[in-house]
Amino acid sequence: MTDTQHDTTDRYVFDRAWEREHERLSALEAVYDPATTERLTGLGVAEGWSCLEVGCGAGSIARWLAGRVGEQGRVLAIDLDPRYAVRHELANLEVRQQDLLTEPLPAGAFDLVHARALLEHLPAREEALRRLAAATRPGGWVVVEDFDIEGPMVDMIARYWPAGHDRLAGRLYRALEAAFGGAGADAGYGRRLPDALAGAGLAEVGARLHAPVLAGGTPFLVLTLRQLRTPLLAGGLLGEAELEEVLELIQRQDVRYVPNVMVTAWGRRPS
Ligand SMILES: C[S@@+](CC[C@H](N)C(=O)[O-])C[C@H]1O[C@@H](n2cnc3c(N)ncnc32)[C@H](O)[C@@H]1O
Repeated sequence: MTDTQHDTTDRYVFDRAWEREHERLSALEAVYDPATTERLTGLGVAEGWSCLEVGCGAGSIARWLAGRVGEQGRVLAIDLDPRYAVRHELANLEVRQQDLLTEPLPAGAFDLVHARALLEHLPAREEALRRLAAATRPGGWVVVEDFDIEGPMVDMIARYWPAGHDRLAGRLYRALEAAFGGAGADAGYGRRLPDALAGAGLAEVGARLHAPVLAGGTPFLVLTLRQLRTPLLAGGLLGEAELEEVLELIQRQDVRYVPNVMVTAWGRRPS
């Protein structure tokens, strides 16, 4: 396929119109924003920067960036479906309906380009990364974050579930990995990010893995599993009773567990 011919078939594993999708995206932000903003702060995002937030979801990172870059800076946030972010526009934040893969971005324009939990879902993820890098000014940063919930990582996650429930957690995460794969997503893309960033011509590549220990009742994984109920059960790797057992477990106040591991990776466009 050429630059302009790639798979634009929308096989996104999540239903964007699900009645609790805004709530689910906000719950994802609550879990993963602290590590994202810490890394963006460490890379020096400051007054006057021009930033691009791609696949902005409910928009918390776009709004955080807008506060950080101030009146002299600007933030462009794009999403195929920006319905959950548009209502929060600010003077220096523009939220736009735009497909990363088919619509052009200004070349070499941004000091920072950030995308979280997006590339893993795109079958044309190499092309997507090429576009993120091309939109970054020489010397600017590309920061990409994606989950790693593949293969042996499942056992690592399961180790941090309550005693006696590690096998259940393993079955859950293997079903999640299969549900992602069934929709063309790569559940292990986080692990591949450092090489992918280097392959896209970026320098000073670095990455870190992180996942908070969540208290029972935290909504992110509960809502994600409810949204993915049909694909999770369709693969035959997890039974309906097991899914109910997981949902009951992770809503118990006395329980602590680790959800999806996120990989935050960054690289700089050479000057
Ligand atoms: C899992 S959500 C993550 C949202 C946000 N980045 C976060 O981490 O909080 C992925 C987002 O990417 C958007 N998206 C999917 N494909 C896209 C594309 N080709 N171009 C732009 N946005 C896309 C979806 O609509 C969704 O809002």
